[in-house]
Amino acid sequence: MTAAPALASPSLTGRRLVVIGAGSHAGRAIAQAASAAGAELVLAGPDPRKLEWTAAELPGPARTVPVDLADEDSIARLAAEAGELDHLVSTASMAANGPVAGLSHEDIQRAFAAKVIGPLLLAKHLTGRVREGGSLTFFSGVVAWRPAPERAVMATTNGALAFLVQALAVELAPVRVNAISPGVVDTGVWDGMGSDKEAFLRGVAARNPARRVGTAADLVQAVLFAIGNPYVTGTVLHVDGGGRLA
Ligand SMILES: NC(=O)c1ccc[n+]([C@@H]2O[C@H](COP(=O)([O-])OP(=O)(O)OC[C@H]3O[C@@H](n4cnc5c(N)ncnc54)[C@H](OP(=O)(O)O)[C@@H]3O)[C@@H](O)[C@H]2O)c1
Repeated sequence: MTAAPALASPSLTGRRLVVIGAGSHAGRAIAQAASAAGAELVLAGPDPRKLEWTAAELPGPARTVPVDLADEDSIARLAAEAGELDHLVSTASMAANGPVAGLSHEDIQRAFAAKVIGPLLLAKHLTGRVREGGSLTFFSGVVAWRPAPERAVMATTNGALAFLVQALAVELAPVRVNAISPGVVDTGVWDGMGSDKEAFLRGVAARNPARRVGTAADLVQAVLFAIGNPYVTGTVLHVDGGGRLA
């Protein structure tokens, strides 16, 4: 048996991270944590104002680059502006929820762009720029394992992403490729429910084996693990309180 090495430092000093979705919610929290750990950030997302807002609150250096995962040219521009990088994290999502009979083709395509086609194009344009030890981390979601009515597109795109990271981990090796699959997480994305939000979250917590809903910090911790552990690739890390089982 080989001796156990000292635990790797969680420091990201000198590492360049590209965070897509950095303008809001989980992406913003990931950017803040990575910056606090010493990383140099490239903040990407569809809304330049939100990216500037995130950048202004980071303790370390950051550049902002608008990107739309439905537009390959913008992905190519992001790659060119990012230059060499260590890790890419994408929280990108565009929902196409509702009864199948009412779905628009365009909305379905945008949902696939965020979670399937966009990640493939990110791999195409960015992998050659990833430094030794680097990784790509994408966000899937619990509904793939626990489908619900009016969530057919969400279930399918998140499920496809889970298989995509396995395929990319094999093809892009030694670049590591993983997915985080959140359950219901109070990142701020549920705030639009207004006064119904608290009862909704309480109901979810009562059903979850973990008996709670997730926090942005739970997702940040999972991302730092996925990018920091050199023996983790081709994996879906479920951060769902066991919600896919209940
Ligand atoms: N929070 C949960 O309960 C939960 C549950 C299951 C799965 N997830 C998954 O976890 C991830 C993070 O969730 P979240 O709570 O942070 O929700 P969120 O705010 O909806 O995250 C989606 C992100 O995608 C970005 N985005 C939208 N259109 C884009 C485009 N065309 N190109 C690139 N980026 C685009 C958004 O940027 P803007 O804000 O600038 O529009 C936003 O930052 C998502 O993939 C979500 O599906 C979350």
